[in-house]
Amino acid sequence: MLRQLFSLALKLLGGAALAVMIMLLVSAQYFPLSSQSFDTQIGQAVFNAKCSSCHVAEPDGENKMGPNLSKIGFEAQTRKPELNAAEFILESIFDPDAYREPGVEGHMPKGTLDDVSPKNVKDLIYYLASRGGKANYSDIAALKINAPKISSVQQKIEPIPIIQRGWELFHKELGCEACHSVFHNPGDDFLAPSLISAHQLPREYIIESLRDPSKTISPGYQQIYVKYKTGDTLAGRLIKQNEDSLELLHFDKFGHHTRSHIEKSELHTWNIAEHSIMPPYKLSPADEYALIAFFKFLQAGI
Ligand code: HEC
Ligand code: HEC
Repeated sequence: MLRQLFSLALKLLGGAALAVMIMLLVSAQYFPLSSQSFDTQIGQAVFNAKCSSCHVAEPDGENKMGPNLSKIGFEAQTRKPELNAAEFILESIFDPDAYREPGVEGHMPKGTLDDVSPKNVKDLIYYLASRGGKANYSDIAALKINAPKISSVQQKIEPIPIIQRGWELFHKELGCEACHSVFHNPGDDFLAPSLISAHQLPREYIIESLRDPSKTISPGYQQIYVKYKTGDTLAGRLIKQNEDSLELLHFDKFGHHTRSHIEKSELHTWNIAEHSIMPPYKLSPADEYALIAFFKFLQAGI
């Protein structure tokens, strides 16, 4: 009796092993078990372009508005029992309020990846799931991601290093992000226009904006200089005005955007500045090109 049971168990196990082998063979065909089809470099480029204004992915990176994601590959496995790491990261991106870590402040905007192709979203998830964890290839391959809402403009695909260079210039070396956002959420057009649609600007215009920003000042972004009767001065973007008062958007002493309501009766003079607050940039043609490639990437994905 015992022997019969034992041999039955062996048969079952053998059957199970065979079934597993067949599954592996089949899945290897549909989901090759290599990481070749997801590209962490592209994932990182998408992260840099779309997420890094709020998140860092390095353990010792400075904290920004969103949580540090250097261990998200591990953490994402534990956040919700019913979701694997890939599914959790996907949900965090497309439905950010579905889960909120206790104590977390601030909201993540929806639609950060509305113009990125499903393949590139998976590259990004692959990159993130590898931070502090081991990305599970087939979990990522199995994710269902809708086609981008904003249709990608058919553009020449730029090589990743050029886009990376543009990203670095924009966010780090040249500090464009101090004034410009690359999103289109309400309030992103602060002192300067959001550059989410900069790919639509003619190349020559972008280059001219860089070399000589005061030549054409975008409508609505003129600077106003006010001089109070007390002698104090203030410069900012004119948001509103009526007969008696002005409203200016400007940086406060901490470098944050703030609005000031000013009674004209308090003012000595106020003038529209002839110069843009954007400083002129003398860049190599390669760096100008890299910035343009970065703007194209923001819209088209890769
Ligand atoms: C404007 C700022 C902002 C941007 C841009 C942004 N996030 Fe977030 N993100 C947040 C904030 C704030 C939270 C925490 C609150 C929440 O969960 O909604 C968060 C939470 C998350 C979480 C959950 C973290 C956890 O510990 O559970 C993930 C994952 C995430 N973001 C990924 C991304 C990715 C990927 C992108 C780029 C496609 C991105 N975020 C873009 C602000 C942002
Ligand atoms: C001190 C703030 C500031 C910085 C830094 C800055 N800009 Fe600007 N930028 C502005 C303002 C304000 C405008 C709109 C007024 C104008 O046209 O000059 C503008 C306009 C532009 C325009 C034209 C946009 C349009 O829709 O007409 C482009 C392109 C641009 N900036 C790119 C950049 C790039 C790239 C960098 C970094 C190399 C940068 N800016 C750095 C403030 C800034």
